[in-house]
Amino acid sequence: MKAMVQRRYGEPEVLELREIDRPSIRDDQVLVRVRAASINPGDWATLRGEPFVARLASGLLAPRNPVGGMDLAGTVEAVGKNVTRLRPGDEVFGQGNGTFAEYAPALEKNLVHKPAGVTFEQAAAVPVAGMTALQAIRDVGAVKAGQQVLITGAGGGIGTFAVQIAKALGAQVTGVCSTAKVELVRSLGADRVIDYTREDFTRGGLRYDVILDNAGKRTLAEARRALAARGTLIPNNGQFEHRWLASLPTVLWASLLSLVVTQRLRPLLSLPDTARLLALKDLLESGKVRPVVGKTYPLSDAGRAFAEFGQGHALGKLVLTV
Ligand SMILES: NC(=O)c1ccc[n+]([C@@H]2O[C@H](COP(=O)([O-])OP(=O)(O)OC[C@H]3O[C@@H](n4cnc5c(N)ncnc54)[C@H](OP(=O)(O)O)[C@@H]3O)[C@@H](O)[C@H]2O)c1
Repeated sequence: MKAMVQRRYGEPEVLELREIDRPSIRDDQVLVRVRAASINPGDWATLRGEPFVARLASGLLAPRNPVGGMDLAGTVEAVGKNVTRLRPGDEVFGQGNGTFAEYAPALEKNLVHKPAGVTFEQAAAVPVAGMTALQAIRDVGAVKAGQQVLITGAGGGIGTFAVQIAKALGAQVTGVCSTAKVELVRSLGADRVIDYTREDFTRGGLRYDVILDNAGKRTLAEARRALAARGTLIPNNGQFEHRWLASLPTVLWASLLSLVVTQRLRPLLSLPDTARLLALKDLLESGKVRPVVGKTYPLSDAGRAFAEFGQGHALGKLVLTV
């Protein structure tokens, strides 16, 4: 099968399209014929081997798994003997291993059926970004109807889902993004859009009940200025520019500070979760959430897609078609 292979850490140039063996599957796994796979900040970290702390999981000197990618949408090719819910031919989306390839293994519990009206490209945009947004807005932020919610990075992967989920929960949503994304964020249902090149949300005077900070360009102290006395701040940026520990110091500081102030500071770790994936499937089917696919690239152009992603200003999700 064709796969985008990475033998060492580095810039997007280290990615090479190669012919390799199809992966085998365990009894609890499904082999998916990948039709589309999207790029997440975690894939960028794996490509570069930074933050270095992440190499404890991905391989110290070179990536242990030469094929990257987590998000996928495709067709079930084969199932392990303990798989009960899925069958060959089913159209699915979710998370697998090494999805920048024609075939990828995935645990059955990390896949759900793809709604018929959603394309493979759209479905592949959902898993990591959609689940993180849902966890942040619905579960950690516990957003309620009528609350004031502010989302930074509103035109990016997580932000585009978070705006729509917060609106679906009945919140008054303010999105923060660059000039080029203002119209998109408005079209996703944001009640107010702040162009960060012109206005500083931390100095606007408004106090929000929940702030989801995907962009991470402001310190905790600055973001807290815009947070209600009993509001919740979710610092969610990976801060990969800090090459050793990334956002770990911020996460620890936020958790400590939260013990002594009335505001809740709640970093989160997003992990695959069947219930959240099913909830997203419902949101897609009801039309309350539509994935924003900013651009698609063929798998063979993954290097160009990663180069664009690495600039940090992609519109919605970048998707590879396989
Ligand atoms: N907690 C977890 O488990 C978890 C899971 C996944 C991802 N993450 C983290 O979540 C963050 C966002 O991920 P993503 O997939 O949404 O990334 P993304 O698609 O790259 O989106 C980031 C967005 O931020 C915008 N941005 C940049 N500077 C900004 C600023 N000053 N103010 C407002 N927006 C700004 C960018 O576009 P514009 O500048 O054009 O507006 C871009 O749309 C990443 O740092 C990632 O590491 C955390």
